[in-house]
Amino acid sequence: MTQQPIIAPSLLSADFGNLERDVQMLNRSKAEWIHLDIMDGMFVPNISFGIPVVKAVRKISEKPLDVHLMIEQPERYIHTFKEAGADLLTVHWEACTHLHRTISQIKEEGMLAGVALNPHTPVAGLEDIINDVNLVLIMSVNPGFGGQKFIERSLRKIEALRDMIKRNKAEALIEVDGGVCRDNVADIVKAGADAVVAGSAVFRSPDPEAEIIALRDC
Ligand code: DX5
Ligand code: ZN
Repeated sequence: MTQQPIIAPSLLSADFGNLERDVQMLNRSKAEWIHLDIMDGMFVPNISFGIPVVKAVRKISEKPLDVHLMIEQPERYIHTFKEAGADLLTVHWEACTHLHRTISQIKEEGMLAGVALNPHTPVAGLEDIINDVNLVLIMSVNPGFGGQKFIERSLRKIEALRDMIKRNKAEALIEVDGGVCRDNVADIVKAGADAVVAGSAVFRSPDPEAEIIALRDC
């Protein structure tokens, strides 16, 4: 058994007609965070849900909200997502011209600040910001949709990031998002992940709570 990762189920795969039921299930479960995927149809070719849904989840959730912004110019909405109830706000490296400023603003709002990397974006681009972020989200699929296959190359990126964090004596957590399942979670944690997002693995399971435990006990 490897070290137990933080499990952050993604509501993208929940039943939106029964969202309260699904959030209550996560409250009862061993999940530590609830992951919310915000998509604008521009940065990614899909539109998911927005601020009113985050607010509604906040009212029901007993767990921290891990909000992943897949939107252009995310700096426009930092305060809005704080008000909506985000505890951790992650923006994409590729969507931020002034990433350092955006990260500072997220922290000034009292949230933890994360930066996400698309599969083609090298980890090396984080060298000058790694000491400023609370979390790095390695996308292990191309963002936009749940239920895609894990890109194996991501394991090397996790290792490279773990090495960078160590070299810089940084404290950023590593979160991995996309295609995480029972079959690969042990390798992902072994490579250096602290937290994993799981959408379809959890919500397509006949027993989501047991699936969360299985992922955590990898
Ligand atoms: C993809 C999202 C993911 C997604 C993961 O763009 O960022 O959080 O919900 O879904 P699975 O676990 O099904 O790959
Ligand atoms: Zn996500």
